[in-house]
Amino acid sequence: MYLTREQERMINGEYGWVTARALKVIVKVGEALGAEKLIPISHAHVSGISYSNIGDPGLLFIKELYEKGGRSRVYTTVNPGCIDLLGYSRIISREYYDKQLVINKFLEGMGFKPTYTCIPYFHRIPGVNEHLAWGESNAVIIANSFYGARTNREGGPLALAAAITGYTYYAGLHLLNNRVAEKKIVLPKHLPEDYYGASGLWIGENIREIPILENAPTNIYDLKILMAAAAASGSHGLIVIDGLTPKGTYKISDRVEKIFVEKTSLEKYLGEEPSCDQRILGYVGCPHLHPSELFWLVRYLLKKSSPRRDNVLLVSIPRIYAETYRDLLELLRLRGVDVAVGTCPIVSRLKNGFDLVVTNSGKAAFYLRRLHGLKVRLSSFKKVVEAVYS
Ligand code: F3S
Repeated sequence: MYLTREQERMINGEYGWVTARALKVIVKVGEALGAEKLIPISHAHVSGISYSNIGDPGLLFIKELYEKGGRSRVYTTVNPGCIDLLGYSRIISREYYDKQLVINKFLEGMGFKPTYTCIPYFHRIPGVNEHLAWGESNAVIIANSFYGARTNREGGPLALAAAITGYTYYAGLHLLNNRVAEKKIVLPKHLPEDYYGASGLWIGENIREIPILENAPTNIYDLKILMAAAAASGSHGLIVIDGLTPKGTYKISDRVEKIFVEKTSLEKYLGEEPSCDQRILGYVGCPHLHPSELFWLVRYLLKKSSPRRDNVLLVSIPRIYAETYRDLLELLRLRGVDVAVGTCPIVSRLKNGFDLVVTNSGKAAFYLRRLHGLKVRLSSFKKVVEAVYS
């Protein structure tokens, strides 16, 4: 692989042991993928920082990077950890509180922004054709598909290495020639919101190639639900959205196969309907909520009384909202909402005792069914709230 003089100096240890080691890892991966050079990135997003997922080995790895001098050379944000950073949530377990705080201390010590969110694209909007090194599959697919930026689906350690060196390998979705749509997926027209998560799960499970999507929702809030689900059940890093993905950031193959998706094929992902004798956990915020969604929720709940029976509505939001929207969060708490800050029920331990989870998130449904063995119903944002409140 061709290396610039600066990159050679890095690899030879002139920028410290951690930077040398990090760049060697990137070069090795790049060579395995056929990259001819490295490219500078402007934003790294580090996933895989939840103690619940990485345990002591992950904590010790991050500690070693910090103690041996690893520091971010580019703007770096971090994914949710496994604790509610404000400590109010009754649903998210506090089991690993101290361990997660230790991880956070090292990450922040390395100069990473304490965002603790999976929607870094709302924190710093990626530019068209801007090169990034992002972990977190939902963030990657939105960066590529909605903003026209360029990033592969990085694992946590590779995104960390990119943050420390400021470089990534020039391969995969960084190259226009690898951003070629080969299948056209036609969703049913006027698909109800309840089916956005299900559509994503269907695409992830059934389509291997980069698709171009027709009749997709056009606003970012609905799209993040669909895209996150596709990236969870499949390995997609880019889905071209007809009329929305910036021109010049993808190509379309000469021979595109057209596939029509029937509404009936999506129904199996919805799960069982809630019944009135069930204890329900309503969940919105996977991916994390945007402030507009938070405002809508507060306005809607002002018209509602208290949760029915022992039902609970859980919302998960970025760390930064804790200060900026303190009053809104207080209003939500007064209405009985369980607000989890800087985490989510998938990357944390969940206190259970619910018969059914009702959520608008296909990604949450995918993991809650598999990892936590929970029964999940997919629904619209509004119906999730209505399943909990009278
Ligand atoms: Fe974010 Fe957790 Fe969902 S990290 S995308 S809320 S699984």
